[in-house]
Amino acid sequence: MFTQILTRISNWLTGSWLNLAVASHDWVVPALQTVHILSVAVVLAGVLLINLRIIGWAERSQPVPAVIDRFLWPVTIAVLVLLATGLLQIAGEPNRAIFRTIFWLKMGLLIVALGLTWSQRPVFAQRGDEVVTAKPASKLVALVTLTLWLAVIVAGRWIAYADPWAGAPS
Ligand code: HEM
Repeated sequence: MFTQILTRISNWLTGSWLNLAVASHDWVVPALQTVHILSVAVVLAGVLLINLRIIGWAERSQPVPAVIDRFLWPVTIAVLVLLATGLLQIAGEPNRAIFRTIFWLKMGLLIVALGLTWSQRPVFAQRGDEVVTAKPASKLVALVTLTLWLAVIVAGRWIAYADPWAGAPS
């Protein structure tokens, strides 16, 4: 059922103006990949600083809510750029990523990681600017969040090496 829906999307994309715009120039895919990987760097830098601050290993002179406020928007904007450049890569080669389990695992991990990252904001905002040391439970959540972001990156890199699942169009 899922394969059928994806096959329809893939067929609809194949030969579309967007597919041709991406696939008919040699420089477009490398350019999209470059922006994708630079945006990964922004996400990683932001989530490292937020979560290492919560754990207490970075930016210790800054209150936790201030660090979250500083880096949450750059992270979110970079994720939107990742969404755009990721979707354009799919449009350029519709039969590739969407028929690989690792791609959908990456999307699932991304939703959880982004949700956890945003959930840290109200948790710490409630406690005000005097928050210098996070509770152990918050530190654990920060460690899990960071691990999930790293897993998203590994899954992204893995797409190129995974086989499509059985029944996928070739
Ligand atoms: C928001 C939705 C996203 C979509 C739709 C998307 C889609 C894609 C696609 C289609 C590829 C190319 C895979 C291939 O054909 O080999 C890719 C690669 C990759 N993605 Fe994403 N992505 C998204 C977000 C992210 C995020 C948030 C991260 C990490 C923070 C990420 C990290 C990567 C990495 C590391 C690669 C491999 C790049 C390379 O090998 O040059 N992606 N992504």
